Amino acid sequence: MNIVNARLRGKEGLFRIELEGERIAAIAPQPSPAETTVGDLDAASNLVTAPFIEPHIHLDATLTAGEPAWNMSGTLFEGIERWGERKALVTHEDSKARAKKTIDMLVDHGIQHVRTHVDVTDPTLAALKAMVEVRDETRHLIDMQIVAFPQEGIESFEGGRHLMEEAVAIGADVVGGIPHFENTREQGVSSIHFLMDLAERKGLLVDVHCDETDDPHSRFLEVLAEQARVRGMGARVTASHTTAMGSYDNAYCSKLFRLLKMSGINFISCPTESIHLQGRFDTYPKRRGLTRVAEIDRAGMNICFAQDSIVDPWYPLGNGNIMRILEAGLHICHMLGYEDLQRGLDLITDNSARTLNLGEGYGLEPGRPANLLILSAPSDYEMIRTQGYALASIRKGRLLMQRTPARVERC
Ligand code: FE2
Repeated sequence: MNIVNARLRGKEGLFRIELEGERIAAIAPQPSPAETTVGDLDAASNLVTAPFIEPHIHLDATLTAGEPAWNMSGTLFEGIERWGERKALVTHEDSKARAKKTIDMLVDHGIQHVRTHVDVTDPTLAALKAMVEVRDETRHLIDMQIVAFPQEGIESFEGGRHLMEEAVAIGADVVGGIPHFENTREQGVSSIHFLMDLAERKGLLVDVHCDETDDPHSRFLEVLAEQARVRGMGARVTASHTTAMGSYDNAYCSKLFRLLKMSGINFISCPTESIHLQGRFDTYPKRRGLTRVAEIDRAGMNICFAQDSIVDPWYPLGNGNIMRILEAGLHICHMLGYEDLQRGLDLITDNSARTLNLGEGYGLEPGRPANLLILSAPSDYEMIRTQGYALASIRKGRLLMQRTPARVERC
């Protein structure tokens, strides 16, 4: 299969992309628009990119909103309460069915790489075992990384350390954490030492729910970054959320940024979830409750956007469309300046790939996997402005999905 009349990000003119088996064989400039021949796909002067990435989602909780009760206040704390009720009803088959239904939604929107957190503060580790099976059974659709996520703490939950080690033995790819939720500051710090030791020992990646609060005194990010720096693990470590940074004063943040840059860690922001859940203790002025996305980006550090939830007790909306998150995030983070719009897709493609350590398994280069999207617009700017979408998703040289655009007829 070949793709003709393709535009590539950051390049002038049209290109022809040749796929051979499961690999990209060649990418060559096209002097003029080409006719399609049998077996070719016509990008019609639209962008062709590597797949979209969902770097932070909770597939074990998706599609549970309202079961057995709705979150009436919309707050994080009522969400935890509602999830406690739903968690008691989780079965192996129920977990697998909801995760697979959600993966289909992600695939329909051009996503082929997913990092999911799975709650391991459950002595049976039922959801984790289900997700390991889902990871195997959906390899034709997505590449999945599973994070061992201690929702109720590593130190504060009975047997928390053992459950984390068990989760890794069963097959988790990434070690998680939630230091700001531990009962004390000391437990938060020791949980980070524990999870970094575990990841280093097993050669795994790290992705910590870090300082997901408006509390300006929640400062576990400095501990995580310093641990990453000292161990030389920065590129393999991610700090998710870090929403407290939106409430840090500038003097502290200026000192913190020096350490963050030295550490080389990655960041994930979930803008729709954070604008919904944070700022809940404020009247007015009301904080946005997000990390400093633009400032992290401007400082040359790596940050990407994620959905976090789809129809669960914490967030009742979502349909798998990461472009929706990008559009909202750029608004919320004051990133609608001209230059941000020219490279907006970085936040759901290349930056996310770096976070997930995808290396040569990702990107439009000859020799790399023939995983790519044909989009509905010719540039990042136009994709964002027109609320564009993936028209086709190709994986290992095979069409996964094609979308027929809606037609409007003037009457
Ligand atoms: Fe999360």
